[in-house]
Amino acid sequence: MDRKIGMWLYSNGGGDRIQKKIVKKLKEREIETVTDINLRQAIAKKGHIYHGKTRVDELDLFFSYNAGEQTQYQTFLYQALNRVIPMINSYESFALTEDKFQTSFLLQKHGIHTPDFQLCHRDDSKQLSRIMKKWSKMVYKPTDGWGGLGLTKIESQATLDMLMPFLNQMDLRFFYVEKFLKYDNTDFRVDIVDGQFVGCYGRKASDTDWRTNITSGGSVFMREPDDEVIDIAKKAAKICGTDIAGIDIIYDMEQEKYVVLEVNGIPAFATPEQEKMGLDFNKKKIDLIVDLIDRRTKL
Ligand SMILES: Nc1ncnc2c1ncn2[C@@H]1O[C@H](COP(=O)(O)OP(=O)(O)O)[C@@H](O)[C@H]1O
Ligand SMILES: [Mg+2]
Repeated sequence: MDRKIGMWLYSNGGGDRIQKKIVKKLKEREIETVTDINLRQAIAKKGHIYHGKTRVDELDLFFSYNAGEQTQYQTFLYQALNRVIPMINSYESFALTEDKFQTSFLLQKHGIHTPDFQLCHRDDSKQLSRIMKKWSKMVYKPTDGWGGLGLTKIESQATLDMLMPFLNQMDLRFFYVEKFLKYDNTDFRVDIVDGQFVGCYGRKASDTDWRTNITSGGSVFMREPDDEVIDIAKKAAKICGTDIAGIDIIYDMEQEKYVVLEVNGIPAFATPEQEKMGLDFNKKKIDLIVDLIDRRTKL
């Protein structure tokens, strides 16, 4: 085999089985895979990035698919590696989608609807009060969060006043807030690989939370997207330059349109439990990823 790629894929939630399938399918195409390349254990020296004895920088491609704790060190090496070998996702799109503000800004610029947002300097709390008057309800979001963590719904000037001392203590660089949208507490998660629609499911918030995230008590349900939802997801993935993306979309009931909440660069495969529910997009996703790796490594 004259092609060799590196891979780092999460092993929980059925990830280990997905990895085996990808490795097998790549092998059928004469592509060898070195698995479990966690850059946390890598060392850069003498013009190479070593993971054990593997020179990661001499592989034909690196497939990075592990959302759990990407430390600063890992992303630092991700960036360096991206300069010398092809990566899925590219470092640029990975870094972009890790940041909600950067993503929403770019999407809006390209005419994709996102919730109205504002970013202001941390000393500009006057601006926050102005926005509050205009929107009446907003969501404070850490731009690098996930799983609904740290999202705070602010429903009145009084809540904002109460929150300010805490926010000031947190030594933030800026405030990123979004207008709180009226929606039916459900969302669409649409998976796109290599520009193609892979699958979709819905999530519904629990009765006691406004967030749809599983970690916030939300639950997954089967959901067919219409063409518009698929089209928005494809466009968002393209604008972000992501080879693989999971796009979170909700329906804004006031403006009567779909909006993109965020683009996830490492969307999970369907778990064994979700597969039992009928979520069956894993095979298509694996095939598209294998095709993509094959194409990117062809000389
Ligand atoms: N602007 C908003 N208006 C209303 N609900 C929102 C808004 N933004 C996020 N949410 C809710 O919070 C959840 C988490 O937001 P999201 O931006 O996807 O961050 P995370 O990375 O934590 O998943 C969403 O799935 C949605 O249910
Ligand atoms: Mg989300």
